[in-house]
Amino acid sequence: MEQQAHFEAVLAADERIEPRDWMPEKYRATLIRQIAQHAHSEIIGMQPEGAWLTRAPSLRRKAILLAKVQDEAGHGMYLYSAAETLGVDRADLLDRLHTGTQKYSTIFNYPTLTWADVGVIGWLVDGAAIVNQVPLCRCSYGPYARAMIRICKEESFHQRQGFEMLLALRDGTDAQREMLQDAVNRWWWPSLMMFGPPDAASTNSAQSMAWRIKRHSNDELRQRFVDMTAPQADVLGVKLPDEKLRWNAERNSYDFGEIDWDEFARVVKGDGPCNAERIERRVAAHTEGAWVREAALAYAKKQAAKVDA
Ligand code: ACO
Repeated sequence: MEQQAHFEAVLAADERIEPRDWMPEKYRATLIRQIAQHAHSEIIGMQPEGAWLTRAPSLRRKAILLAKVQDEAGHGMYLYSAAETLGVDRADLLDRLHTGTQKYSTIFNYPTLTWADVGVIGWLVDGAAIVNQVPLCRCSYGPYARAMIRICKEESFHQRQGFEMLLALRDGTDAQREMLQDAVNRWWWPSLMMFGPPDAASTNSAQSMAWRIKRHSNDELRQRFVDMTAPQADVLGVKLPDEKLRWNAERNSYDFGEIDWDEFARVVKGDGPCNAERIERRVAAHTEGAWVREAALAYAKKQAAKVDA
C-alpha cells in the first residue's frame, strides 16, 4: 500500500520512476511492450536505408548515410538496455521480434525504390519520429526518458540531413524533382500511420497517459506533425498527396483527409509490402552474427578473469 502511494506520489510530482522502485506489474509490462517495440523499430529501420548504402550518389552522401544507419543501431541498443532495467532479457526480446510476437513500426515495411526515398525518410519518417519522441524525454520511467534525450538529438540531425538532400533534388533536374514528388506520394500516408490508430481505437493510450508514459494522444501528435510538415512541403516545391489538406484558420491547424486504416491493420498484421523480407533479413543477420556474440562473450570473460587475478 505504502509502495503504491509512493509510486503515485512520484507520478503526481512529475518525477521519475527508477528501476529499483516498486511499480505496478501492468506499468512494467506496458513499458516493456513499448520500449521493445521501439527498439525493434530502430533495428528493422536500418534495412530500408541500408539498402542504399552501396548506391549513394557520392562519397559524401555515402558517409552521411552510413553514420545515420549506425545511429539507428545505437538507438536500438540504448532502448534494449532501457528495457533490460525492467527485468527482461535482450535475447528474449529479439526472439519475440523474430517470431512475430512483438511488433515494430509499420513504416519500415515499405520499400525504398529510389534515392529520393532516403531523403524523404529523413524528412518525413525521422520528422514524425521526433514529434512522437520528444515528449518521451519526459516519460515517467527514468531510463527510457534519458535514452530518448540522446536519440532525439540524433533524430533531429537525421531529419535535417534528409531535408538538405531533398533541397538538392529540388534544385536539380526535372527528373530529380519528379523522383522527389514520387517518393513523397508513397511515404506521406504511411508516415501519418506511424502515430498509431485514431484515439478512439487506441487501446493503450488512456492508461499510458495516466501513467505519464505518453504525454499526448496519437491524434494530437499526428496533427502537430501535419502542421509542421505542410509548410516545409511548400519550401521543397512538392505537393502532399491529399486533396483535403488545407489550412483551417478557425482551428489554427491544417485539416487533412482520412487515413486508410485497413492498410494500417494489414501492415500491422504482417501483410505489408516488405514484412516478410524484413524479418527474413533480420533473422539471417542474427544467425550469421552468432560467432560475433560468442567471440565478444569469450573476450569479456577473459578480461574479467584478468581483473580477478
Ligand atoms: N506500427 C505498428 N504497430 C503500431 C503502430 C505502428 N505505427 N501504432 C500502434 N501500433 C500498435 C500498438 O503497439 C498497439 O499494439 P499492442 O497493444 O499489441 O502493443 C496497437 O497498435 C494499438 O495502438 P495504441 O494503443 O495507440 O498503442 P500505444 O499506446 O503503444 O501507441 C505508439 C503507439 C504511439 C507507436 C507508442 O507505442 C509510441 O510512442 N512508441 C514509441 C515510439 C516508437 O516506437 N516509434 C517507432 C518508430 S520511429 C523510429 O523507430 C525511427
